[in-house]
Amino acid sequence: MMADQHYTPGFANHIATEAVPGALPVGRNSPQKTPFGLYAEQLSGTAFTAPRSENRRSWLYRLRPTANHPAFTLYDGAPDLKSAPFDDVPPSPNRLRWDPLPYPDAATDWIDGLVTYGGTGSVAEQTGVGIHLYAATADMQRAFFSADGELLIVPQEGALHIETEMGRIDVAPLSIALIPRGVRFRITLPDGKARGYVCENYGALFRLPDLGPIGANGLANPRDFETPAAWYEDSDAPCDVIQKFQGGLWRTRLDHSPFDVVAWHGNLAPCRYDLTRFNTINTVSFDHPDPSIFTVLTAPSDTPGTANCDFVIFPPRWMVAEDTFRPPWFHRNVMSEFMGLITGAYDAKEGGFAPGGASLHNQMNGHGPDQASYEKAVAADLKPHKIDGTMAFMFETRHVVRPTRWASEAPTMQLDYDDVWSGFAKAQLPR
Ligand SMILES: [Fe+2]
Repeated sequence: MMADQHYTPGFANHIATEAVPGALPVGRNSPQKTPFGLYAEQLSGTAFTAPRSENRRSWLYRLRPTANHPAFTLYDGAPDLKSAPFDDVPPSPNRLRWDPLPYPDAATDWIDGLVTYGGTGSVAEQTGVGIHLYAATADMQRAFFSADGELLIVPQEGALHIETEMGRIDVAPLSIALIPRGVRFRITLPDGKARGYVCENYGALFRLPDLGPIGANGLANPRDFETPAAWYEDSDAPCDVIQKFQGGLWRTRLDHSPFDVVAWHGNLAPCRYDLTRFNTINTVSFDHPDPSIFTVLTAPSDTPGTANCDFVIFPPRWMVAEDTFRPPWFHRNVMSEFMGLITGAYDAKEGGFAPGGASLHNQMNGHGPDQASYEKAVAADLKPHKIDGTMAFMFETRHVVRPTRWASEAPTMQLDYDDVWSGFAKAQLPR
């Protein structure tokens, strides 16, 4: 993705941007008379009183206040979009894997194309995540926002043009978008269809991980996040707005475009990030570090070092470790792991894990390389080796991911997934 003058580099920086010169008040947020009579409105992403280092908010200057809308009524579309807590089916300890989500036959926009696979926590408690996939074939003719969480969108196939209240974002596979809770947006499909993954984060906002001894640089560098410039639409055409609120979907119809923010300033805004810019760090001696070394963004919980959700990627990288089993090792994890594959092949799975597919390895249940990957790795000549043309990712969470009924009964579920670990020969002790 090329740098674009419509974007400002940096993560969660304080930005001031105006689509019409002079639209931003100078020196104050809410003057008695705003420029052009725009309506000043604060959008809070954290409590007013959150510590300064955590505090996220922006001031929006718009043609009409957001409050100018009729009542919302229940919306019965997007039947497979769900929210935690998920208790339709018992949470399964089994390793689960799904084939790619098929595209719907009927024209389906991004909202109705969302399918929830599972999640953790509770929207009411503002903890946990919802994990969705989308398969869309039509442009949105309406706006959407989640009051339940911020949305981390991971395209897998097809570009997305995302028009938000605060600017326009273009993303494609190998890049991500992050849309704050409450920010309204409309997604159109430059390629005619699109598929991907969404992490709806009910908890504390995603941020860059601390780097500790790595130092001041590395992993996802802040400058590679890009925030769009203010953009607005001056339209009096009716526009539906769908909101997700405590798991329910609600609709209202405005008599104008919701995308009427002429200028804004602050540090709460949508952004995008090109995953190929990730500065991948790994061993140059032996063993490989825990996969947390691949963390792009982390959403903390109340327990230090124990994430509500980490967004982790497995990008192209050189493998140079000596006397080392190089693929991800066998393990049992106190955290739970939902994986997706954007492109290529994942180095612990020779087959069965397809781009657009998904897997779930829940708390304390053993997993690791499949037998074919294992045998190849123990027999490998340990020359430097480039893992190329691949991008897998993981939503890793401290809470068990509870699948939805849809995911538990999906025809895409691979009922033979356990078999990838069934054929290992017994280790031979000396007699
Ligand atoms: Fe794992």
